[in-house]
Amino acid sequence: MSLVDVMSVDDIPPGTMARVEVEGTPVCLANVDGMLHAVHDTCTHGMASLSAGWLDPDLGRVECPRHGAYFRLSDGAALTPPATATLPVFPVEVREGRVLVGTDPSIPHPFDTP
Ligand code: FES
Repeated sequence: MSLVDVMSVDDIPPGTMARVEVEGTPVCLANVDGMLHAVHDTCTHGMASLSAGWLDPDLGRVECPRHGAYFRLSDGAALTPPATATLPVFPVEVREGRVLVGTDPSIPHPFDTP
């Protein structure tokens, strides 16, 4: 696995999300009380960008802006309908003030699976 430098940690303060690209894959970065999470940015129900949705830092989840499904950021689990498939999760770490995201997701995105 390799790590890709995506941004300064100062650009993603607690309670915010950002869309980044990791080797062409859209990734939603989220800062939950200082802990960074990286999940695939495309909702597993439809073609919606999760980073354009809403972060719920109290429960560590993101709400899809299109139909309102919630996903848990720590493991990508789909928590509420209409989404049922888990989101891929990416390794993320901070080194010397930079956010690094791993290139290998936990699972393939369902839209990438034939
Ligand atoms: S596109 Fe995300 S819940 Fe439908």
